[in-house]
Amino acid sequence: MSSSISLARFLATAQQQQHLDHDLAALISAVARTCVSISDAVSQGALAGVLGEAGTGNVQGEDQKKLDVIANQMLLDGLAWTGLVSGMASEEMEHASPIPAEYPQGPYLLLFDPLDGSSNIDVNISVGTIFSILKRGEGELESQFLQAGSQQVAAGYVLYGPQTMLVLSTGQGVQGFTLDRHCGEFMLTQANMTIPTATKEFAINMSNQRHWEAPVQRYIAELLAGKTGVRGKDFNMRWVASMVAEVHRILTRGGIFMYPRDARDPSKPGKLRLMYEANPMSFLVEQAGGAATNGRERIVSLQPEGLHQRVSVILGSKEEVERVTQYHFE
Ligand code: AHG
Ligand code: MN
Ligand code: MN
Repeated sequence: MSSSISLARFLATAQQQQHLDHDLAALISAVARTCVSISDAVSQGALAGVLGEAGTGNVQGEDQKKLDVIANQMLLDGLAWTGLVSGMASEEMEHASPIPAEYPQGPYLLLFDPLDGSSNIDVNISVGTIFSILKRGEGELESQFLQAGSQQVAAGYVLYGPQTMLVLSTGQGVQGFTLDRHCGEFMLTQANMTIPTATKEFAINMSNQRHWEAPVQRYIAELLAGKTGVRGKDFNMRWVASMVAEVHRILTRGGIFMYPRDARDPSKPGKLRLMYEANPMSFLVEQAGGAATNGRERIVSLQPEGLHQRVSVILGSKEEVERVTQYHFE
């Protein structure tokens, strides 16, 4: 049963209740509108010739898929002219992208992972778009983006799964909207999403086990020991390899997601990127009553040093995140 509250109505109500300004509401609408187009491209797949490799690499040294590049360009094109942002930054661009001179500058900065879970595109498994919105600052554009996650004024993701869903927080809880393809609108279907404090489900890429640090080794060994171990209960495991899909599962039924620091490349403190993956997801998870740390500190409290900086991520049900974080201090 779908509700009759559209994203437009939800944003209008939030403006009337004065915790959202007009430009921020318009920016969220513009991001959502663009993600409907990305959803169309994703769902067309081979019919539109959008699967496969782009034949290029990004600044992270990762091969780009065609859809990584297409989704990135759609977001740039969908937002540049709006007068709502003064710059955009993305996983797929080495430097922040200024707004072309012919368009007005806006009060916000937009960061995004245009297509998260790229390894799943060609095998028709869920992918998503992650976004983070900050207030514009002073000085050189790129340095304006380097604000702690706690400064985000809104964050969200769009999951391109069996349903296309927008999950959004403007700092007043977390709301889930399902795209109604008949009218092209996101409709509020999951109001005030909250993460259960306890869980029996974890998500980690077990193939990296030999590279993990001791606290993570200990925590996962205890989960695997199940009923016969110190936890006294059995745990189940999931790994989609799309952070958007894992976080959505956790927002829906609880769980813990970890992409911890590992010893594969000592120069990288984790795989995921702080600015457009970990920060927006941590903001959502905290807004839903969960927790998100790098093993020691709240992710949203970290002072960023670079647009593409990586971070260890442990997020989800509060009791579990607190336990594994505690192990890092023992
Ligand atoms: P992206 O496709 O944007 O590069 O991000 C993929 C991320 C994340 O979504 C997922 O949790 C993780 O990488 C999967 O990594 P592994 O392939 O190492 O499991
Ligand atoms: Mn990603
Ligand atoms: Mn990506």
